[in-house]
Order: sequence, then structure tokens, then C-alpha cells
Amino acid sequence: MSFSPDWLALREGADHAARAPAVAQKVFAHFAAHEQVTIVDFGCGTGSNLRAMAQHLPTRQTWRLVDWDENLLAAARTRLIAWADRTKEAQGVLTLIKGGCEIVLELRQADLAKNFESVLDGADLLTATAFFDLVSGGWMDALSAALARRRLPLYAILTYDGREDWQPAHAADAAVLAAFHAHQKSDKGFGVAAGPDAAAYLAQTLAHHGFVLTQGESPWRLSSGELLRQLAQGAASAVAETGLVGAQDVAVWREARVQAASCSIGHIDLFAVPR
Ligand SMILES: C[S@@+](CC[C@H](N)C(=O)[O-])C[C@H]1O[C@@H](n2cnc3c(N)ncnc32)[C@H](O)[C@@H]1O
Repeated sequence: MSFSPDWLALREGADHAARAPAVAQKVFAHFAAHEQVTIVDFGCGTGSNLRAMAQHLPTRQTWRLVDWDENLLAAARTRLIAWADRTKEAQGVLTLIKGGCEIVLELRQADLAKNFESVLDGADLLTATAFFDLVSGGWMDALSAALARRRLPLYAILTYDGREDWQPAHAADAAVLAAFHAHQKSDKGFGVAAGPDAAAYLAQTLAHHGFVLTQGESPWRLSSGELLRQLAQGAASAVAETGLVGAQDVAVWREARVQAASCSIGHIDLFAVPR
């Protein structure tokens, strides 16, 4: 499954606005006394998570951005250089200077379905945004066990929780959401994807592995606009692929939904710290 840089750029503002402030505060307070922090970002896309967090962390940071998509990693480098106040590069190490922070940038191409251990070395924090709905429960179990062994905290942002509320309501909403969730559970390379169960499953497996959790809701609250329109288009296309809703009904729903007044898409943010 691939994600376009344009789609990630379109959603970045809504993603940053949706973050649960109390969970973020807990993360930033956890590292407040650190002089330096090394963060690994799974499924980094174009680096949105770094742009959201850097100003709130100790001034000396290393970010290891991990994705399997080389195009997204290249876009991340370009976007982060443009975002920085200035950059310096010495002996192949790129450092972003932004608002008083010095951020060493590492870009790693890796298929996290096959191997996630090697990219965790030296990390103080693992983070991921809008990622866990793609993975399977078994993969989350393996990750939780690895994090417990390493006593490594996790900050998981915008994990889909299956709740959607489109306004005004439409007769096909329930059938479409059920089909959308069925599509979400298709294998994205990690086995049967958790999809709408991702947020609950992640919390459960981390608690089982002895982590103390802070959680908060981080829904997208969108009113009519390009993001809502593209979201409706994407959902309708996914539903059509399942064949669970008749083509005519999907077309009618799509037409209504691209003109929806608003929608709320449920997510959970979670900060997990080893006990
Ligand atoms: C929904 S996007 C989120 C991107 C970014 N975190 C953000 O919030 O803008 C999911 C990301 O996971 C990456 N991804 C999916 N499967 C992967 C895999 N097997 N290994 C590494 N990255 C993967 C995608 O390439 C994509 O960048």
C-alpha cells in the first residue's frame, strides 16, 4: 500500500491539530530533563511527526525516520530542509537547525513488516503516527515484547479507533462503514490488518507487557473542504473494492459524502512507559 506525498501534505494540518494535548504534554514532560533525545519514527511518510514534535523536545535531537517507501523518504528530506531555518551537513550527517533545536536527521529505508529490531538501537523513544491500523495484532504483540525488553517508551499518535460520524447522516452510513472496516482488515504486508481494532489492541498488548499507559482522543473534526472530499472519495473506492455494498449504493453515498457538512474520524493517542 502506498501513500502519496500530496495526500500526506493535505492531512498534515488536521493531523497536528487533532493530537491529544494531555498525552503530548506527558511525552514532553518525560524528556524535559534530557539534554539529548533519540527518536525513531515508524512509517514516517514525509516527516510530519518530526515537524509536530521537535519544538517541544530537548534542543539536541536525533530523528531516525523509517519508511519502506523511498519516494516518501526523499520527499521527507526535501520538506524537512525547506522547513528548517537552516541546515548543515558534515561527513554525510545532515543536521536541521530549527527554532534553536539541532536535529540530526537519519533516513532509513526498511520494511518494518520483516524487521523492526535493528532500527530501534540507541532509541529513547519510538513514535508512529497514523500507522498501527496497517499492522496485525501479532505484529503489535511482537513490537510490545521488543519494547518491553528494551524498556523503550512508545508514543503512538492518531491510531484509528473505528468511530466515524458523518453529517448529515445518510441511510447507507452503517453498511458503508462496515464494508470500509472489512477493507481495512486486508493484509498491508503485516498479516491481517488491525484496522478499526488497532487502538484498542495496541493498548491491550502494551498493558499486557507491563507498560503504563496515558491515552487521549485525537479525532479529526473536519468540515467541508478538500480533505473531507478526498477522504470520502477514498472510503468510497475502498468500499467498492469489497463488493459488500452495491455499486449504485456506493455511488450515491460517494456523491452525498463529498458534499458532507462535517465528519469526525476517531483516533486515540497513547504514551506507553515501561513500569
Ligand atoms: C498513513 S501513512 C502515515 C505517514 C506519516 N506517519 C504521517 O503521519 O504523515 C503510513 C506510512 O506507513 C508506511 N508504511 C506502510 N507499510 C510499511 C512497512 N511495511 N514498512 C515501513 N513503512 C511502512 C507508509 O509508506 C506510510 O508512509
